[in-house]
Amino acid sequence: MEIKVAPSLLAADFSELSKAISTIEEDADLLHLDVMDGHFVPNISFGMPVISSIRPVSGLTFDCHIMTTNPTAYLEELAEAGADIVTIHLEAVPDPTEAIAEAEKLGIGFGVVISPHTPFDAMEPWVESCQMVLIMSVHPGFGGQSFIPEVLSKVEAARKWVDFHGLMTDVQIDGGITTENAARAASAGANVLVAGSAVFREDDPAEAIRSLRLAATEVT
Ligand code: DX5
Ligand code: ZN
Repeated sequence: MEIKVAPSLLAADFSELSKAISTIEEDADLLHLDVMDGHFVPNISFGMPVISSIRPVSGLTFDCHIMTTNPTAYLEELAEAGADIVTIHLEAVPDPTEAIAEAEKLGIGFGVVISPHTPFDAMEPWVESCQMVLIMSVHPGFGGQSFIPEVLSKVEAARKWVDFHGLMTDVQIDGGITTENAARAASAGANVLVAGSAVFREDDPAEAIRSLRLAATEVT
């Protein structure tokens, strides 16, 4: 299985975003952008103005993880800002039918995400309509938290579902990913690893991406 690494910009130095992006541009597969509203999650990060500002400095796929109340309302502005894939939480929108139709109309990729307390069952009806499904391995809202290994059974369930139905859906995991647990995440079936601290808090972010990919690839 080909492993993709999606560095999370949340862990970068916000005073020098374009410089941070240039360090990972060659090695990253996607750029993970965490949008937080201080309401759905108890933290505020950045939104459309930052996404549109960094759009011209990167050719990477912008993978936007939306942690807001009523995310469907922002899909059009996110697409205009340069989002390529948008993932929304089922805890915010239990029935994303409207969001799926809107993303299709806008020509952007769509995915659903579940927090650690939400069972995989909540995701099942939507997997077929998703380019990517995201299993959170920390409680959403903050970077730098510890990996919750109990979510790996949901990664296994997602991978089984995708393969059984012959889908191409990416299975992404996000939160606390390091070179120590990347192999476990990949062997459970995740093919897209989000990593914030483990990339941008390292001296050589490009090398950190390669190390994560290697650690994950050795088991798959
Ligand atoms: C948490 C975010 C994550 C976070 C990952 O709500 O969704 O993407 O930035 O950061 P690390 O890899 O430091 O846990
Ligand atoms: Zn995220």
